[in-house]
Amino acid sequence: MKVTRLFTMMVIVAVSVAVVWQSWYELRRLDWMKGPTRAAWQLPDRVVAELGLRPGNVVADLGAGKGYFTFLLGEAVGRKGRVYAVDVEDRIVSNLEMRVQVEDAPNVGVIHGELADPRLPDGAIDLVFLCNTYHHIESRSGYFKKLKQDLKKGGRVAIIDMRDDVTGIASLFVDEDHWTSWADLLGEMEIAGYTLEKRFDFLPVQNFAIFRAKD
Ligand SMILES: C[S@@+](CC[C@H](N)C(=O)[O-])C[C@H]1O[C@@H](n2cnc3c(N)ncnc32)[C@H](O)[C@@H]1O
Repeated sequence: MKVTRLFTMMVIVAVSVAVVWQSWYELRRLDWMKGPTRAAWQLPDRVVAELGLRPGNVVADLGAGKGYFTFLLGEAVGRKGRVYAVDVEDRIVSNLEMRVQVEDAPNVGVIHGELADPRLPDGAIDLVFLCNTYHHIESRSGYFKKLKQDLKKGGRVAIIDMRDDVTGIASLFVDEDHWTSWADLLGEMEIAGYTLEKRFDFLPVQNFAIFRAKD
């Protein structure tokens, strides 16, 4: 009898822990990556302003996802500019294509990239922008070395990625393995043939830096 009661209690505790953990996990994903509160820490308007884009510029949003930055970038480059929203996932690419229609954004084009090749037009891009995508890319120095062929002369790459050194309560929101250390980021981009143009420190949980391709 006692053993049965103990077993029942253990099952209840295990189920409760699972439910609480699942809810916490969902809340984190919802709030931090998708929900309206993202703007509070992602500061998208300030990020786009710091990119120094001009009307007519051509930009690639590499790993565009749901297009969080795509359409803001589209506004920054204007009707005469162009944004290529690149992603590698079929479902995400289809969603992006639908969103381009809904947003009525004729200056945005969607590209189904490959893991090792964004399939961008050669020599056409002023700025490649990545937010929370850098850590997904494999063999990064080689990838960004090859990407230089898609940039105009002296073109730039802006990278935002989760930091590895976030402390305090904010660290709970940085997913394991979904970040890049500043040392790795800087070292890999130098090997790829870029110089650091500017590093920003206003984002609370992400590195944000702009690199320029060396000739
Ligand atoms: C965490 S999401 C970020 C989405 C968006 N940039 C944002 O900030 O909301 C990373 C995206 O990068 C895409 N991705 C992963 N590897 C990639 C690669 N090699 N080239 C292009 N996109 C890639 C994924 O499919 C995913 O949509």
